[in-house]
Amino acid sequence: MASEDPFVICNELYKIFKVADIEVMALQGLDLSVREGEMVGVVGASGSGKTTLMNVLGGLTRPSAGQVIVDGQNLLKLSNRELTTYRQVDVGFVWQQGSRNLIPYLSALDNIKLPMTLAGQTGTQVDKRARELMDLVDLADRYGHKPIALSGGEQQRVAIAVALANEPKLLLADEPTGELDSVTSDQVYNLFRRLNRDLGLTICIVSHDPLVAQHVGRVVAIRDGKLASETVLRRRKRKARPQDDSLASGGLQEGWEEHFEELIVLDSAGRLQIPKAYREQLAIENRVEMEVTDRGLLIRPAQNLEETSSQSEIQIEQEIRAGDNGAGGGLLSRLGLRKSAADGARGRGRK
Ligand SMILES: Nc1ncnc2c1ncn2[C@@H]1O[C@H](COP(=O)(O)OP(=O)(O)OP(=O)(O)O)[C@@H](O)[C@H]1O
Ligand SMILES: [Mg+2]
Repeated sequence: MASEDPFVICNELYKIFKVADIEVMALQGLDLSVREGEMVGVVGASGSGKTTLMNVLGGLTRPSAGQVIVDGQNLLKLSNRELTTYRQVDVGFVWQQGSRNLIPYLSALDNIKLPMTLAGQTGTQVDKRARELMDLVDLADRYGHKPIALSGGEQQRVAIAVALANEPKLLLADEPTGELDSVTSDQVYNLFRRLNRDLGLTICIVSHDPLVAQHVGRVVAIRDGKLASETVLRRRKRKARPQDDSLASGGLQEGWEEHFEELIVLDSAGRLQIPKAYREQLAIENRVEMEVTDRGLLIRPAQNLEETSSQSEIQIEQEIRAGDNGAGGGLLSRLGLRKSAADGARGRGRK
């Protein structure tokens, strides 16, 4: 069960990649908080920044700006050496491609021993722990199998055992079921859930599967490198239907049902993203009006935009204000605008 303490904190995270002269903003001020023992799904379109976020959380990439704290450690302040230890011991990874998780010429057991050996562990303890982990992922009969002799689902379960070898508190999985069929995916998700519940592991799973919410406690959606929404499981009172036979049998008497609800995320500066579907449906472009009503905040497309100042008029106004000692008159007449028109525009609100 998740505690209330934030275990992972990302504040205004930015990651800029520079290739040749082109800069790509993979993360654009992302805020995220994950409690200890929570299991979170991360979804988003291709290129939205999911893998970049995993790499930052796993200490594989340093962010360009912002703050990332995992279990009290500020990853930006760790030296290269400390970051290597963090990657080896504090965090475990599972990738989509089996080939990235496992070394092909080593047996399943030896694959699990490797991270322990690299972290400096030796002796019979290593072998004992590797066997325990194989048992934990229900592969007690596959110790000697090399990856090629394992099914895709079995490979991913060994990969999870490898990720757990050094007893990390945080497990990061980037599309771990991307190459699996739905039945095998369910088995892998069941294993994640069991590890989360029994070991208290904090787990972040990137997925393209829109149904991932069924497997995790909370789903966060990234859009353009920023958190856009969260889907959470909520309980609501079920309306009793007297004519329903199942009432008599007790089926609906409890009066509660669970449902998934997508909530829009507000960042620390109060910004939110309006989903594209709503923007298109309501013909919202780049300005809106906001109104406080008795039911909450109403956001609607800005009305009568043609009456408001265009950007160029605003710029002209600014120039006029800056040079109010006479130069403004010259500018106005040059553009053929009457000062009164500019004054009128100045009085109207802009958002
Ligand atoms: N090492 C890199 N160098 C340059 N650009 C990069 C690098 N890694 C990622 N990017 C760019 O950053 C953006 C986010 O990439 P990222 O891999 O995080 O997306 P993603 O959400 O994981 O996508 P997908 O669902 O396809 O895996 C993309 O535009 C990508 O091209
Ligand atoms: Mg990715």
